[in-house]
This record gives sequence, C-alpha cells and structure tokens, in this order.
Amino acid sequence: MPRNIFVLTGAGVSAESGLGTFRDKRGEGLWARFDPMKLATPEAFAYDPETVLAFYDLRRQNLRNAKPNAAHYALARLESGLATWGGGLTLVTQNIDDLHERAGSKRVIHMHGELLKVRCGHCDGVRPWPDDLTPSLACLDCGRAGVLRPHVVWFGEMPLHMHDIDRALRQADLFVAIGTSGAVYPAAGFVAEARAAGAETCEINLEAADNASLFDEARYGPASETAPAWVEELIRAPL
Ligand code: OAD
Repeated sequence: MPRNIFVLTGAGVSAESGLGTFRDKRGEGLWARFDPMKLATPEAFAYDPETVLAFYDLRRQNLRNAKPNAAHYALARLESGLATWGGGLTLVTQNIDDLHERAGSKRVIHMHGELLKVRCGHCDGVRPWPDDLTPSLACLDCGRAGVLRPHVVWFGEMPLHMHDIDRALRQADLFVAIGTSGAVYPAAGFVAEARAAGAETCEINLEAADNASLFDEARYGPASETAPAWVEELIRAPL
C-alpha cells in the first residue's frame, strides 16, 4: 500500500448526495444554466450583492438537505486506515460543502473555501455561518456593515492553503482525483505536479476528465461505487 496518498475531490463526489455538478459532457451542469461571471466573481458581488448572496443562500439550503454518500464514507475510512498502518492521507477538496467532515474525515483541506462560513471583506475574520446572508449584516469581529461574504473562492481569486497543498503533492506516492472535470486550475494541474515528483496517478470519475491523459490509471463509474471499491482494494493490500 502507498504510504502517502493525496486525494483531490470535486463536485462529482457529492453528485449522488443531491448537490449538482458544474460541468458535464451533457451540458447539464450548473454553469450551463447560470453565468459564473454573474454569480461567482468579486466583480459580481460588488455590482449585485443581493443576487450573489441569494445564489449562495440557495446552495446552503440544498446542503442542509444533503447527506454524505458511500464515497465520502470510504475516504474517511481510508484516512483512519492509513493512520493505523503508518501512512498518511492528504484530502484536498474543491467542494465547499461539508460532506467529507460529516462522513467522518478529520482533516479536509478546502481549497475553494467553505459554504458554511463567512468572511469579512474588511478585517478578514472568518466565522461559522449556517444561515442566509444579507448585504446589510455587520461583521461580528470589526462591526463594519455591508462587507460580509461567503467564505468561498471566486473566479479571479487565489485558492486557499496552496503552500500545504504544494508540499503534500511533492511528498505523495499516489495521487488520486475523484469526481473532478480537470477543467479548473490550479487543481487541474495537481496531477502533473504529483507525476513530476514521482507519484503514481489514478482518475476515478464518471467519464474521462479534460486532463485524463495525465493519469496512469482510470476507473470510470459513479463515485459511490468506484471510490469504496478502490479503498477496499488498498486496505486489503499489504503495506
Ligand atoms: P465539475 O462540475 O467541473 O466536474 C464534475 C465531474 O464529476 C465531471 O467530470 C463529471 O463527469 C463527474 N461526475 C458527475 N457525477 C459523478 C458521479 N456520480 N461520480 C463520479 N463522478 C461524477 O466539478 P469540479 O471539477 O469540482 O469552482 O469543478 C471545479 C471547480 O469549478 C469548482 O470547485 C467550482 C467550479 O466552478 C468555483 O466555484 C471557484
């Protein structure tokens, strides 16, 4: 069994929990129906905060009705298994939902932020926030009104925790991407970084991602089946 495993998850891992994906080959993803430039950029928030906040309120409501699926549970099992056998899992997600945590994963790196938190645009304070957001709310840390935003990364902004992610990519001996289209950078470039550092690479997805040619191995099918099967195989293999 590889000792240092890096798993990158995307919207496909939460699709069977009822949370939609952004893109797919059938053109049915969220960004085929809504313009991300009007909903997920700092410029959109400055121009029309009500619309942007309402979009994230809706996503927060959807998340309340969602439950982790077998793929989330399998990754939590992998984390505890590796800890027992002297290995390590770095779980990086592009998802802003909390389904990995609810399935029991202890350490999750949310490179695109977290839907259930807010950040103050003035003092940068981050707090848990399970409710709707309105533009007039004041920051609980600095008291300034009209500056609270979802703690998510928008297009044109730098993803979070990149230093930790780069270090883990260099140390990984197996890199696995689950349920991500390989269309959004920097995450889409992680497979090339891990390969260059000597890791084996595996894609677990419903269909071939845009960067599929960079993976040594591919397993196609719904994540709720393919991810648990992959974890079982790993756990059964001797160290
Ligand atoms: P995408 O929506 O781009 O891709 C989802 C991938 O999951 C596709 O390759 C689907 O084929 C696959 N998929 C769908 N259902 C699946 C299932 N049941 N099992 C396995 N795979 C399945 O999502 P991401 O790659 O996560 O960023 O998107 C990356 C970023 O683009 C997001 O974090 C978001 C978005 O714009 C921001 O909002 C900044």
